[in-house]
Amino acid sequence: MLEVKNLSKVYEGKVPHRALTDINLSIEKGEFVGIMGPSGSGKTTLLNMIATIDEPTTGEILINGKNPHTLGKNDLAKFRRREMGFVFQDFNLLNTLTLEENIVLPLTLDNTKVKEMEEKAYAIAQKLGIAEILNKRTFEISGGQAQRVAIARAMIHEPSLVLADEPTGNLDSKASKDVMEMLSRLNKEEEATMMLVTHEAQAASYCDRVIFIRDGKQYAEIHRGDSQKVFFQKIIDTLSLLGGNDNDFSEVRI
Ligand SMILES: Nc1ncnc2c1ncn2[C@@H]1O[C@H](COP(=O)(O)OP(=O)(O)O)[C@@H](O)[C@H]1O
Ligand SMILES: [Mg+2]
Repeated sequence: MLEVKNLSKVYEGKVPHRALTDINLSIEKGEFVGIMGPSGSGKTTLLNMIATIDEPTTGEILINGKNPHTLGKNDLAKFRRREMGFVFQDFNLLNTLTLEENIVLPLTLDNTKVKEMEEKAYAIAQKLGIAEILNKRTFEISGGQAQRVAIARAMIHEPSLVLADEPTGNLDSKASKDVMEMLSRLNKEEEATMMLVTHEAQAASYCDRVIFIRDGKQYAEIHRGDSQKVFFQKIIDTLSLLGGNDNDFSEVRI
């Protein structure tokens, strides 16, 4: 459902900076793919181009056979709103709204009927274990709950692709585990295609496969197989071969 072909990105500026070189990916519907690499290796740049938030310098991205970067501004906004769901490190919830109002935002923008929005919000909130707190506001809940609300918002409109950039970056290890288990379950139950950028091996071990990038280039790819524990160890081993700044991987959680 997602093809990335010979994608490169150069940030122009006084000193142009080459952030990505010749990335090629092919992701099937329903896959859960992790992207790992040291800080500054181009992970967010890659995700932003797939998200159509930023333009590639060369190469192309096809989502369900269509290149969203050729759409006009309004069609692109609509495409992004309908086909994509986003989860961020800092949750990005609106503090003036209740949790339920946050969750239904993608539907509000598409003029969905109130009753339908309420039903959908309740259904997804139940799956994420937050149905009891829908009337609360963001300052009344924990980080783990906030991220579950953000996941509900990212998925309520059944997007074809969910993109998560360091979703466990602000969570303690228990909340991280909960969030990854929920993402993994939704990936299977909803057959949602997901991409996860993370520098935490524990989080990445929930993926079907992990692609490593270094200095903007594809470096390695490993597949999960049957055992999450074995996969976790393979991820740790690959990260140590990858090198980079030691501090980047200091948050490894076991
Ligand atoms: N808007 C930008 N303008 C110029 N350089 C950028 C911009 N965004 C990112 N970069 C640079 O591109 C490289 C890759 O950044 P990024 O994709 O954010 O890496 P990562 O997410 O892996 O930490 C870094 O060297 C970063 O400084
Ligand atoms: Mg980043």
